[in-house]
Amino acid sequence: MNAVTAPNTPPSSPHVMHTYGRLPIAVSHGQGCRVWDVNGKSYLDALGGIAVNTLGHAHPKLVPALCDQVGKMIHCSNYYHVPLQEQLAAKLVELSGMTNVFFCSTGLEANEAALKLARKFGQDKGITRPEIVVYEKAFHGRSIATLSATGNPKVQAGFGPLVEGFIRVPINDIAAIRQATEGNPNVVAVFFEAIQGEGGINPMDADYLRQVRALCDERDWLLMIDEVQCGMCRTGKWFPHEWAGIVPDVMPLAKGLGSGVPIGAVVAGPKAAEIFKPGNHGTTFGGNPLAMRAGVETIRIMEEDGLLANAVKVGEHLRAALQRELANVKGIKEIRGKGLMLGIDLSVPCGEIWSRSAEAGLLLSVTADSVIRLVPPLVMTTAEADEVVAILVPLIKQLLAEKGVS
Ligand SMILES: Cc1ncc(COP(=O)(O)O)c(C=O)c1O
Repeated sequence: MNAVTAPNTPPSSPHVMHTYGRLPIAVSHGQGCRVWDVNGKSYLDALGGIAVNTLGHAHPKLVPALCDQVGKMIHCSNYYHVPLQEQLAAKLVELSGMTNVFFCSTGLEANEAALKLARKFGQDKGITRPEIVVYEKAFHGRSIATLSATGNPKVQAGFGPLVEGFIRVPINDIAAIRQATEGNPNVVAVFFEAIQGEGGINPMDADYLRQVRALCDERDWLLMIDEVQCGMCRTGKWFPHEWAGIVPDVMPLAKGLGSGVPIGAVVAGPKAAEIFKPGNHGTTFGGNPLAMRAGVETIRIMEEDGLLANAVKVGEHLRAALQRELANVKGIKEIRGKGLMLGIDLSVPCGEIWSRSAEAGLLLSVTADSVIRLVPPLVMTTAEADEVVAILVPLIKQLLAEKGVS
């Protein structure tokens, strides 16, 4: 069997740049919520490629559609109209109640486009040094601008000078945002994740979302909600801001939109839809036919297979089982999140759980040092959720005992 050792082992391929702390597992293939490594060991996948594989692996409806598309056309230039772009954009507009979409290939690109939209929104109004409100513990990507917007010093270390023009505030504190922007005529936008992912599964309260929406309206700022990780059906709504009954002006998406095929999108409402003019923004791969087909089919399958309801049902089942099994365990601070985006916050760092769970046949991640993150494929069943709990709970108890917490 494949022994799992400590992370940060030297890369097995000396030619791939060493940018990730990887586990020594070489993956081979997957089916549904299962993944196999090259030695034939199977794993239950509660990570879904970090909230990407929304339909699980090798979905029987997605695979033939993608094969069909590869046989027709993978890529062409944005010098021409790509009908699938209009098809996917129309669907995203219908689902979001917003108006227009720009396509790209990753989350950071979607966020980069959002930041450019905000700056140009300000510049068009005569604000020559626009500033954007961002959040503590936020994660928006690793380009220079998006890592500057990110609220994690570890991500920024070594990459200064950072991009200027960001004002940082804590989450869920409307007084803090009012105070930080008091009398500042340069503010153009507020930018946050509806549920912070990398920062430790920290949801924005529904009340807070409504208050920020009202503040943006009052001050003529753009409300920009990064739903790259928490969007696309994961919380039981297409987009988690819907739980608060609001609509943003700008919504970057990526990850789960293409079920694994690289795709990003910036959805804009009327206040932001006309800001970019021809020549203002673009990307070679954005909107290519393969990615567009993946997006169209992902949404179609999510609708056909009732995955909104499944995310609620299995998410509630998983949360309830974790709460029951961990009820009187000292060292469990909180179980947070919504639908199939859950975090178990421990009172001690728990990075070891990442490798130990893999050794036990369960893929997940640990984020913000002490939060076990579960973002499985949205096709997960309640039986599979029970299996997650059966593997994970003893590992948590063992780790807490080792650390003298329990
Ligand atoms: C909320 C959020 N925004 C942006 C990104 C960056 O996306 P990508 O890695 O596709 O650039 C991530 C990635 O984890 C994310 O979680």
